[in-house]
Amino acid sequence: MSAQDVYTLLNKYDLKADGLQTEEHLNKKHRSYIHYLLDDPELVSVKCNCVEWLFQHVGKVDSVIEFMAGAGCASVILRDLCQPSTHQTLELSPECVAHLENNGFKSQVGDVKKTPAEYVDGWQFKIVDYPFGTIVTNTRGDWKNFLDVFKGDVTQYVSWTDSAGSYPVKIHGKTYAEAMGTDEVFSDWEDYFRAYSKWLYEQTGFSIVRVARRKLGNKFGSCFVLAEKGDHATEFKIFQSEECGDDILLNGEPLGEAKEENSLW
Ligand SMILES: C[S@@+](CC[C@H](N)C(=O)[O-])C[C@H]1O[C@@H](n2cnc3c(N)ncnc32)[C@H](O)[C@@H]1O
Repeated sequence: MSAQDVYTLLNKYDLKADGLQTEEHLNKKHRSYIHYLLDDPELVSVKCNCVEWLFQHVGKVDSVIEFMAGAGCASVILRDLCQPSTHQTLELSPECVAHLENNGFKSQVGDVKKTPAEYVDGWQFKIVDYPFGTIVTNTRGDWKNFLDVFKGDVTQYVSWTDSAGSYPVKIHGKTYAEAMGTDEVFSDWEDYFRAYSKWLYEQTGFSIVRVARRKLGNKFGSCFVLAEKGDHATEFKIFQSEECGDDILLNGEPLGEAKEENSLW
């Protein structure tokens, strides 16, 4: 990338990309979201449409903390739509932290396996953009401190990513239901999220208000989820690459054909 590169997401949100380096050489597990921004714009474009729809529901908020802020794609959309007066970002990757600071965000290195318990009070909107995960990782796996994110004196919205929808719900549905303490049989991914919302409300007093599902070609991928304090109905929407996979410009020009990438992110 050259010194003054700028991505424009969804024809509206500018993200500076000065000097970003490809992460092609890194093992998949060790790549940050900079990899996807540089090498899989179709996937990122559909995701940006998904999170924009979530943030439109939130509207204006005072304070936001993003625990896995990555390449800052969601951050620039959120800054514009939600206009927080305080916006803190954290990331495991120091390259992402430098890039987030370059885009004007307060940022520091932080591991989501530890940080939610350190940032409880004073944040109206909290975001954990997990690179993978389902109700199972969020109760007994990598992200088992998930429910800590919902604590806090002014916490009103929580958003996260869930990859259960990448596979037919029949494959793992029973395991997911067990993690929620129910014997319900899920017939589709909407059943999963409705049960998740009910479980979440019982645990935290929050429920799921929006689920955006990403579809690349004929393959479903991750879902982007928004919960709000209180007992609410859940709205669902699918965002497809054919309709919104080409919404990223680099220095004002279309990026062209996106790379095929077998990823859940
Ligand atoms: C799905 S991406 C986030 C994308 C970001 N929201 C954006 O819009 O650019 C997930 C990010 O989590 C980071 N990550 C992975 N494990 C982490 C951990 N334990 N703590 C904090 N960040 C982590 C990765 O480096 C990656 O950039």
